[in-house]
Amino acid sequence: MILAKKDEKSKKNAPLIGIDIGGTGIKGGIVDLKKGKLIGDRVRFPTPQPSTPESVAEVVAQVVAELTARPDAPDASSPVGVTFPGIIQHGVVHSAANVDKSWLEADIDAMLTARLGRPVEVINDADAAGLAEARFGAGEGVAGTVLVITLGTGIGSAFIFDGKLVPNAELGHLEIDGFDAETKASAVARERDGLSWEQYSVLLQRYFSHVEFLFSPELFIVGGGISKRADEYLPHMKLRTPIVPAELKNDAGIVGAAIEIALKHKLAK
Ligand code: BGC
Repeated sequence: MILAKKDEKSKKNAPLIGIDIGGTGIKGGIVDLKKGKLIGDRVRFPTPQPSTPESVAEVVAQVVAELTARPDAPDASSPVGVTFPGIIQHGVVHSAANVDKSWLEADIDAMLTARLGRPVEVINDADAAGLAEARFGAGEGVAGTVLVITLGTGIGSAFIFDGKLVPNAELGHLEIDGFDAETKASAVARERDGLSWEQYSVLLQRYFSHVEFLFSPELFIVGGGISKRADEYLPHMKLRTPIVPAELKNDAGIVGAAIEIALKHKLAK
């Protein structure tokens, strides 16, 4: 009995695998859930094109197999957390703005659980990044509303309140000046339109001040690849809300995926 209790305790916050499905790469790592960091290097394969459910599931299985073969890998029957760049409700995909449309209405949880032969839960990519930032990054210990906005191929968002995630906030699709915001103000849109950082910061100012007006958050955290270049655009912006770059950078999705599955399986506090 005492042994069983000890066993249970040692499973809390034990490392788990997190996988981040993106438009260009499928990345994975073993996550130390006490530190919010990867143990060892991450594994990355290009996202297959077309990125249909079957071909993506195949690559996810490859990433998981590679990680599971490591000597310090979590148990081969342990659950795996996965992110996806669309709305995920009860394990089903309900939007596919920047991925193959054949994902729509796919039961991604069931599909990956069957393919991997171990429990899988899928969470929106920005939600995962938000969870990671709230626990281990720029949002740690912040009370009230924290909005994590990721600037990448699209614009993703995570709504955090008192450290808890309110899932599937799709604030990248707010309509601003007659356009779906992400089609003008994502990092990819900046490159496509050849905008300087200063020109881009005007679009971001418009976007963030609208979101600020709607939600009055305590803090904005800017994630996605260009959070590394925050010095180029944040100083040009004027908001009443503090705005800071994400701290977990490239690994936020992987770490957040592992946090989510650990919380769902009561393997983390
Ligand atoms: C999707 C979101 C996703 C974001 C970032 C948007 O187009 O609608 O679900 O989080 O892109 O990948």
